[in-house]
Amino acid sequence: MHEKLEQTVRKHLSHAYRKPYSDHTEQAFASASAWLEQQDKPLLLDSYCGTGTSSRWLADTHPDCAVIGIDKSEARLNKLEKQPDNCLLVRADTDDFWRLALAAGWQARQHSLFYPNPWPKSEHLKRRCHGSPLFPTLIALGGQLELRTNWRIYAEEFCAALKIAGISSELKKLDAGQPVTAFERKYSEAGQNLWQVCAQLSSHPLSPL
Ligand SMILES: C[S@@+](CC[C@H](N)C(=O)[O-])C[C@H]1O[C@@H](n2cnc3c(N)ncnc32)[C@H](O)[C@@H]1O
Repeated sequence: MHEKLEQTVRKHLSHAYRKPYSDHTEQAFASASAWLEQQDKPLLLDSYCGTGTSSRWLADTHPDCAVIGIDKSEARLNKLEKQPDNCLLVRADTDDFWRLALAAGWQARQHSLFYPNPWPKSEHLKRRCHGSPLFPTLIALGGQLELRTNWRIYAEEFCAALKIAGISSELKKLDAGQPVTAFERKYSEAGQNLWQVCAQLSSHPLSPL
């Protein structure tokens, strides 16, 4: 695990992150907000959704919930055309989208983070979910959190960061008999081990600080 993980997580837990929002994500958030209000259902977030296959899977398996898949890559999102009515794919940067969602009082019933970019170089710790200044916002969005990754150290760091924040989690090997996403299929077919971290986040209706 990264030697500066604890120091970095503690710093982020005690400092507000105030980077200005991008116009583009503010617009995307406004549209998503209007859609969610119309749905009037519990929210499932699917961050880093790529082509949105996991969002569709979540929407199909939770017809009583509204699923919002978020990815910053338009090219990836455009690959999947038809979504069920209870699923919306949004092109946005989670850095801004999560903070806007929290500021608007959103709380997720479930939050999936399937195969975020690993950023394996040491100097990239802050780009990993748990090393990012956004980590307190992710926690505050609440819900049943599920991270999937093919990099065990990423999963271990994620658990350690949650523990520093006072949250217990479970790390286990994932049996991807039926892969849910494109990357899950790719890693599985390459014979790689896949890891899953689950944690129940409590509700934090206000900002994390
Ligand atoms: C390794 S891919 C995994 C995609 C999908 N979850 C899957 O398993 O097939 C990581 C995805 O995260 C997206 N991504 C990375 N950083 C992001 C950010 N800050 N905001 C939104 N999407 C991001 C990338 O565009 C990419 O589609």
